[in-house]
Amino acid sequence: MNNENYKLETILSHMADIGGIKDIYGASHMPIYQTATFDLKKQGEDPYDYTRSGNPTRDSLENLLSAACSAKGTILTHTGIGAIALLLETFLTYNSKVLIDRDTYGGTYRLLKYYKEKLNVNLVFADFRDHDQVDNLLSDNSITLVLIESPTNPGLKIIDLKAISKLTQKYGAILAVDNSLATFASQKPLELGADISLFSTTKYISGHGSVIGGAIASNKTDLLKRLRFVSNAQGRNQNPMDVYVVSLGLPSLPVRLKAHEEKALVLAKWLEKQSCVLRVVYPGLESHPDHELAKKQMKYFNGVMTVDFDSIELAEFTVANLKLFSEKCSFGTPDSRIEIPGKISHASFSEEELLEIGIKKSTVRISVGLEDVMDLISDLQGVFDEFRLLQTNSLGK
Ligand SMILES: Cc1ncc(COP(=O)(O)O)c(C=O)c1O
Repeated sequence: MNNENYKLETILSHMADIGGIKDIYGASHMPIYQTATFDLKKQGEDPYDYTRSGNPTRDSLENLLSAACSAKGTILTHTGIGAIALLLETFLTYNSKVLIDRDTYGGTYRLLKYYKEKLNVNLVFADFRDHDQVDNLLSDNSITLVLIESPTNPGLKIIDLKAISKLTQKYGAILAVDNSLATFASQKPLELGADISLFSTTKYISGHGSVIGGAIASNKTDLLKRLRFVSNAQGRNQNPMDVYVVSLGLPSLPVRLKAHEEKALVLAKWLEKQSCVLRVVYPGLESHPDHELAKKQMKYFNGVMTVDFDSIELAEFTVANLKLFSEKCSFGTPDSRIEIPGKISHASFSEEELLEIGIKKSTVRISVGLEDVMDLISDLQGVFDEFRLLQTNSLGK
């Protein structure tokens, strides 16, 4: 099936055709080829020999994701952080320099600190909204890899991917964009000039909180060749069963993102009006400093926001007492989640590092699910009322 003219929604709904690998019975959804080995009949020319190196279920989803990401190739990994590890393993050598934002997912930061110890990798920090600063840092051509998120997690800053890719191209650094929060349905980093787009499929892509996975995609044949070699050599490829579970979420990705966004926007606007809330950071809000860029760059704003409460006590009370938002890590699931970043997703940051990116102990990260938004609002309202009552009662004693 020639997919050149199809829109994303069509591509995602036709895995069996777009994936390009025909099941012998014409199954409408690619089945799970749960096998370690395949017949070796043609002495080295068989399409498959060993699942670590290749598997029809995995190839089919990789092909589909390549079409969705405008990539020449995609590699599926066991986890999202596994995709980042594959990137670092492939391109970093002793003393390499990596340019990143401090406002980066905690697991990525922990991994980079590991490479700092293991390979003496230098971590250079930049605020990617300051293009002059980035130009300056890249200008001596010593940076090997630039790794960015947009929106950043947890600060939700929006980075101008086109502008940054112009700079990395000017100085010959590899630009990799972690697209876990936005997803390719919202923005396609490779079309904006990035060399590599990678993401966790654990979140919005699979969409149901039922599997862990990652993907790394590129439109550069030489980079893909190196990534594929390391992935196979180190056994980083995702197993067929998990690939299949990831694939189940894809057709509904655009409609889910739209629904997450609609609910998140209503909730964010309501939260902004609460006297106990000091700040709501959500790219879909006009008050977000990068709102105009977000509108230009992203199709959906999704369901993740950060919220500053007026006290640590209220933040902790809210997280502990909500009924519909559970205290869990991760985001992009049908159920809403809430967490204090410093305790869970960004536990690898020190208090000072978190403060540097504007995350306080009274900051929570919320992932708005697919519930009825009025139910979510009454849950929050109930907890705020209960907290106020407890405070009034303790003052009266
Ligand atoms: C921005 C970002 N990138 C990568 C990851 C890692 O993905 P995984 O948990 O699937 O390993 C996460 C996980 O939360 C994330 O938030």
